[in-house]
Amino acid sequence: MTRKLVAGNWKMHGTKADLSQIAALATAHPAPRIDILICPPATLLAQAAGLAADSAVMIGAQDCHAAASGAHTGDISAPMLADAGAGAVILGHSERREHHHENNELVAEKARAAHAAGLIAVICLGETLAQREAAQTLEVIAAQLHASVPDGSTATNTVIAYEPVWAIGTGLTPTDAQIAEVHGLIRSLLAERLGGAAATALRLLYGGSVKPANAAGIFAIADVDGALVGGASLKAEDFSPIIMTLE
Ligand code: G3H
Repeated sequence: MTRKLVAGNWKMHGTKADLSQIAALATAHPAPRIDILICPPATLLAQAAGLAADSAVMIGAQDCHAAASGAHTGDISAPMLADAGAGAVILGHSERREHHHENNELVAEKARAAHAAGLIAVICLGETLAQREAAQTLEVIAAQLHASVPDGSTATNTVIAYEPVWAIGTGLTPTDAQIAEVHGLIRSLLAERLGGAAATALRLLYGGSVKPANAAGIFAIADVDGALVGGASLKAEDFSPIIMTLE
């Protein structure tokens, strides 16, 4: 059976003082039955990876450039992230798609770069509220999946996170049926692309206002293999109960 994954995205939060949260998580979950990933800001990556070494907590990044190196002021490449100790990288988060104008093709290029550097690409998909209200959710997700997930993606090097844009940081979540419908679609489209075995093994995370109080219900939904958590991943006291829901 696929090992579940609970991932935390700290976004643009955290200074050195917050590294204690990672140490607390590692101590609280010495031998979890699921995978745990924390993605702090790039400034904390190397220190976080050092702290988490020899623990069950994997450290990841929140973005990478598609090139391995070059004249790209302010950017960080996938091999650099791997060198800093990252094991994964979040790509195509809706905040980057919206505020940094990232499109599906760029996300796929970045995912290829992540794979080449030995990183797990956590590729995010999600519809806006306007798209959901216009009944376009399934076609938007299908198009994002088709163009953002590169050939060469496998259950080992790729994770897909379904994050409805309107559920991020709002306290709103889709109904169980809505989550099941989208995750089912993603699973069936992956089966066409990668074959049934790979599609079954590839982890599909739900993200958007996951909290200790709603985690168990969300994890019980068909085709949900874990969560990508924003706000509730910042403090071990909030994140740990979400992890324990699956342990
Ligand atoms: O990457 C995480 C998501 O954007 C979810 O954020 O849990 O604060 O809603 P949130």
